[in-house]
Amino acid sequence: MIEHIGVIGAGQMGSGIAHVCALSGYRVLLNDISQEALDKSLHTIDVNMDRSVARNKLTLKEKEEAVSRLQTSTKLEDFKRCDLVIETAIENEEIKKAIFKKLVPHLSADCLLATNTSSISITALGGVTDRPEKFMGMHFMNPVPVMQLVELIRGIATSNATFNAIQEVAKRLGKQVAVSEDYPGFIVNRILMPMINEAVYALFEGVGTIEAIDKGMRLGTNQPMGPLELADLIGLDTCAFIMSVLYEGRGESKYKPCPLLTKYVEAGWLGRKTNRGFYDYKGEQPVPTR
Ligand code: CAA
Repeated sequence: MIEHIGVIGAGQMGSGIAHVCALSGYRVLLNDISQEALDKSLHTIDVNMDRSVARNKLTLKEKEEAVSRLQTSTKLEDFKRCDLVIETAIENEEIKKAIFKKLVPHLSADCLLATNTSSISITALGGVTDRPEKFMGMHFMNPVPVMQLVELIRGIATSNATFNAIQEVAKRLGKQVAVSEDYPGFIVNRILMPMINEAVYALFEGVGTIEAIDKGMRLGTNQPMGPLELADLIGLDTCAFIMSVLYEGRGESKYKPCPLLTKYVEAGWLGRKTNRGFYDYKGEQPVPTR
């Protein structure tokens, strides 16, 4: 029975996952190497829950109870009491592998492991742990409290018991699941990222302005956000990384990251998280940068 969930990484995905887990009655241990990241994450969760209280989606008591179930730590030893640990570190295979190798000696024998990777092989990540049968992909969408979907991905060794237990967690979080095989980008990013990359090519080649591209896709295809504003929300470094995983994993030129996307990443213009991507977020309203 999963009651205590650990989350590694207090970035936007880790914060969102901790938020929904605490709200759904789980005890949550949010871990990061940086105390500053943990403090920032708790503040974000507080602000987002307050917004739900203000909109009568949540009572103050429910919020306070959820917050009381949330603990933070910078030490891996504290994961001993967890039944499931979800890793949400940066999209980098070597960093994720290093985290799992360091983590496993601190886990109870029954603890399940999930990764929120959006594109890296689940089998390869599970393979560095002492429990590949207890390991699988649990890919949340951003912003986690709002988005309905969790993509579930088995590695080659994932047991049915692990899959069923994690599927139950996703359901208790109020999420819908889509099951994907373990191939680069899984389902969502295999389809979404080439669209975003194509939007950056359209900008690169001068087919349209940022505003025209986003408006065209928002109003022309009824998407809640245009592809360039969505790329800014996801993070341009993450988009570029996923495109390179698709490119290397599939070996087809259609997945080549657009040079303009690569340039933005080199400039440190990573989207909302750095206040500048395809839009500038320093003022009240986002302003297109091209
Ligand atoms: N955290 C918590 N709640 C949030 C939030 C956040 N970051 N952002 C918005 N919300 C909530 C609001 O409080 C509001 O809640 P209520 O309905 O309870 O009042 C609700 O979401 C709608 O918000 P807004 O009215 O402010 O804004 P909106 O209607 O423009 O919707 C949006 C915002 C939900 C982000 C919408 O634009 C959207 O769905 N965009 C597309 C997002 C998307 O495609 N995400 C998937 C990205 S792919 C991915 O994540 C996978 C990957 O690996 C890259």
